[in-house]
Amino acid sequence: ECELVKINSIKDEALTKAAEFIKNGGLVAFPTETVYGLGGDGLNSEAASKIYKAKGRPSDNPLILHINDQKMLHKIVNDVNSMAKKIMTAFCPGPITLILPKSDIVPSSVTGGLNTVAVRMPDNDIARELIRLSNTPIAAPSANISGRPSPTTAQAVYNDLHDRIDMILDGGACHFGVESTIVDCTEDVPIILRPGAITKEMLEELFPVVKIDRAIVGENVVPKAPGMKYKHYAPKANMILFEGSSAKMADAIANKIADYEREGKKVGLVVSSEVAEKLQHENTAIYGNQEDLLTIASEIYECLRFFDDKDVDIILAEGTTDKGIGLAIMNRLHKASGFNSIFID
Ligand code: TXA
Ligand code: MG
Repeated sequence: ECELVKINSIKDEALTKAAEFIKNGGLVAFPTETVYGLGGDGLNSEAASKIYKAKGRPSDNPLILHINDQKMLHKIVNDVNSMAKKIMTAFCPGPITLILPKSDIVPSSVTGGLNTVAVRMPDNDIARELIRLSNTPIAAPSANISGRPSPTTAQAVYNDLHDRIDMILDGGACHFGVESTIVDCTEDVPIILRPGAITKEMLEELFPVVKIDRAIVGENVVPKAPGMKYKHYAPKANMILFEGSSAKMADAIANKIADYEREGKKVGLVVSSEVAEKLQHENTAIYGNQEDLLTIASEIYECLRFFDDKDVDIILAEGTTDKGIGLAIMNRLHKASGFNSIFID
């Protein structure tokens, strides 16, 4: 059973204790501006193994190293090229992860055997202070059991991992609520391997051409970020995603509810406030207004977890636009549903 500590200030004693756990090869969950991370010493391959074990994560799925300053960056990356510099100047600290050639001190257990490393400077005071006090880059995947929705609250971390790690730092709900944008900086042009709050549109203000890994948009190819190939972010019940025309969304979902309920099945809904209003269904998790994508991003994982302790047979989810951060939301919903979509025209 681990300690769950509410952090009120970065001067709190608990942060020093957490850093001691990290230095000694232990595991500490901590808040970031995206989702909670499950941290361990990123230069210690035993700590890395513990992370994989705690999450039940396949060991070919590499970890992100979280850094506090440029000095740490140069320790773990061989060549901080001009593309990376440009991105860092514009967006770091922030919800973005860069893929760069790794230096020798990064254990191959952290990178899943790849010769590149994922690096991120989080924009969260507790995360940054923990890294500084630990005096090492912190390897941190999202602090969920592998395959489950990422945690955006300390309670969600506790539910998944309380008996597998040393400590949880509670810094309140995460600001963005979806994981960082991953950008491959090892090719001629930046390639987005996972969409997030730093959007394609924002990167296009810096670079004339920005590519997106084809695996993200549903094409049947092997993704370059190994983690993107797994069914992921999934609630406990099966889920169907509704995409397309918002004018017919409520009717399409209503028809499907009727079908399932005729079969005696219990349905859960993950929808916008607009659609919730029209459907008036008892089992509804509302993620916000369709116009407010940032709120939808920050609520989506809690909505997917909402049905974990309720007894539903099937979850019907309403999609969003794929513009801006909508691309990240739709990517997570596709994966949570195992690409099981109904298209409305
Ligand atoms: O927002 C985030 O990035 C959160 C917080 C905790 O910082 N972390 C996170 O980590 O989402 P995780 O482990 O859940 O996702 C890391 C992703 C995986 O899809 C992994 O395959 C990819 O990053 N990745 C890591 N190293 C890579 C590399 N060298 N090349 C390509 N993809 C890599
Ligand atoms: Mg994850």
